This record gives sequence, structure tokens and C-alpha cells, in this order.
Amino acid sequence: MLTLGIETSCDDTGVAVLRNNDQLLSNVLSSQDRIHSPFGGIVPELASRKHLEMIDPIVNKALNDACVSLNDINLISVTQGPGLIGSLLVGFSYAKALSFAAGIPLIGVDHMCGHLLSIYLEQDKPSFPYIALIISGGNSSLFLAKGYNDFTLLGRTRDDAAGEAFDKVAKLLGFDYPGGPIISKLAEQGQSCIQFPRAWLGEDSLDFSFSGLKTAVLNYCNREKQKGCELNKKDICASFQEAVAEVLVEKTITASKRYQINTIVLGGGVSANPHIRKLMTHRCRETDRNLFLPRPSYCTDNGAMIALAGFLQYQEQDNNMSYDTDVYSRSPLG
Ligand code: KG4
Repeated sequence: MLTLGIETSCDDTGVAVLRNNDQLLSNVLSSQDRIHSPFGGIVPELASRKHLEMIDPIVNKALNDACVSLNDINLISVTQGPGLIGSLLVGFSYAKALSFAAGIPLIGVDHMCGHLLSIYLEQDKPSFPYIALIISGGNSSLFLAKGYNDFTLLGRTRDDAAGEAFDKVAKLLGFDYPGGPIISKLAEQGQSCIQFPRAWLGEDSLDFSFSGLKTAVLNYCNREKQKGCELNKKDICASFQEAVAEVLVEKTITASKRYQINTIVLGGGVSANPHIRKLMTHRCRETDRNLFLPRPSYCTDNGAMIALAGFLQYQEQDNNMSYDTDVYSRSPLG
């Protein structure tokens, strides 16, 4: 069975062709980083316009790279939400039209499910149940995953998502969008010597909060400038990254202990961060837990995870989505 996966929820046009659940035949990504970079964040109108321009060529490239034609496709899986409405509408309307015109079944997939299941694109697959930490530009959430369509939200951010915090701190340090990869590169050359706050939100809480940390970085920079000191951006990046990583990792370990589930899975763009991966690996070894990390290209938005999530969920539901269904900006998963 061949699934065509289409992802346009934010600023990347991603399309993939997947055979069954484990043979990725193509995975094409058109990034909009250069378009949004001067603005320090995503401009929704520009994002949807670029998706509109790229969707058809990227679908054709994914089919060509996979050496298949549209007639060979058995299922179209498309991101239905959450995300930017204008961006979602481009991929969703395109997928509906393609499905209708070619008579191919269609399934709408929650973007979060894509991240939650992206680990199954790897050879080494976890078994259910597992604790999943999904950290991206729009989400920082902990889930208890019991099946391909069975996710319980355990905790989430009360303000900024982890990726959003990386991007906003990068902006205030004068770096381009997306700031996460830039901060993580610079952090490698710096020392985590500045004591930024960690928002634990009480012993029992599995929620996150990163806006206070972002403000603490801003206040620190302003104080240093007032003193006439030059900012050591490498140390600021390393100290900020450490504060984010520590909270993400410790809360994940706490969730795993509380629910007595020894398998931990990461997903979402921020989980491509080498320091977070290293710290999580270290703490999982220390506490005797099994950690499953998707490769970085499966962490950031991509069409492959949408193809896989659609395939897995279609196997369970086996029903074609109605063309009346619409996109949504907020995930029912929370
Ligand atoms: O999952 P994703 O590609 O898109 C969303 O669904 O949001 O995540 C994008 C986010 C951005 O905020 C970006 O700065 C962050 O992931 N990111 C990183 C790294 N690579 C991407 N953050 C920290 N370290 C990285 N290496």
C-alpha cells in the first residue's frame, strides 16, 4: 500500500511517499526559512502564498523521486490541524481535490499525531505504552501514548512553546529565524555559567512555562548593556539552552516515574537539539529507561510522519474522510 503524505501546517511544504509502514520512497521538503528570516518569525500570509506556489511541484517531485505515479497511490494523508489556518487550507484543499479527482481515499491527520508517531519511521520501534515529549515551535507537551490513535495529554506549556522560546531569545540576541538551530550551534562553544530560572510550577505539575525564562534573558541582556559590558552570546545561548533542557528532561522523567512507564519517545523540531538529546539520553541511562529518538530530519516538520500517521490510523479506522471536513487551528489532543 502506498501513502502520499502532505504537510503544510506551518512554514514547510513537506510531501512523502511511504510504502506500507516502513519503506519511505521519497521525502521532499521545501523550507520557507529564507522568506521569514528577516521578520524574526513566520508571517502567515507569506507562508500560505508560498505553500500555494510550492505544493504542486513538491507533490510531483515526491512522486518522481519515489518512481511512482498518482495512479499507484492508495491513500492520501494530509495534515488537518493544528497550525496556521491559511497554510493548512492550501495542503488540505489540494489533498481533497487530488483525492476527489483521482478517486483515492483521503485521511486528515492531526499534526501532533505525526510528531507522536514519527519514531515509527525508524527501524528501532517502541511498543506502547510510552511517554512522549513533543517539543516544537507551537507545542511543548507530554503525552501518554497507548495506541496509534490513543494519546492522553499529561502536561503542556502554559505560555510559550519551547521552540517559540528558542526563536524569541534568538531574535532578542539579533539572530535570524528559526533561532533554535543557531542557538544550539553557539551554545556548543559557550559555557552554561549564567543562572537563568527554571519554571518547575510546583512539584506535581507536568506543565511547562518558558516565557519567564525568555524575560530573564532579556533582563540579563539589558542589565549587561547598562553596565557597559559586551554580551557573551555564546554563554547566554548555553545557559538558556541548559535551563530549557533541564526542565524538559526532568519533567519527562517525572511523568515516566509517575505513570510507571519506562519507554520515552521524543518528537517535534526542538527534539533535534543535540544538547536536549544528550541530556535525555544521560538521564534515561541513569534511571534505567528506554529512550527512542527520531533522527533530526524526522523531528522537524516533514511529510513522512504525516504519511505514516495517516497509514497507521487508516488501518484502524478504514474509512474515507468526508469532503465536508474542515481544517482546525487547535488540536483536540490539547
Ligand atoms: O516541529 P517544527 O519543525 O515545526 C513546528 O511544528 O513548530 O519545529 C520548529 C521549531 C522552531 O521553533 C525551531 O527553532 C526549533 O523547532 N528547532 C530547534 C532546533 N531545530 C529546530 N530548537 C532548538 N534546537 C534545535 N537544534
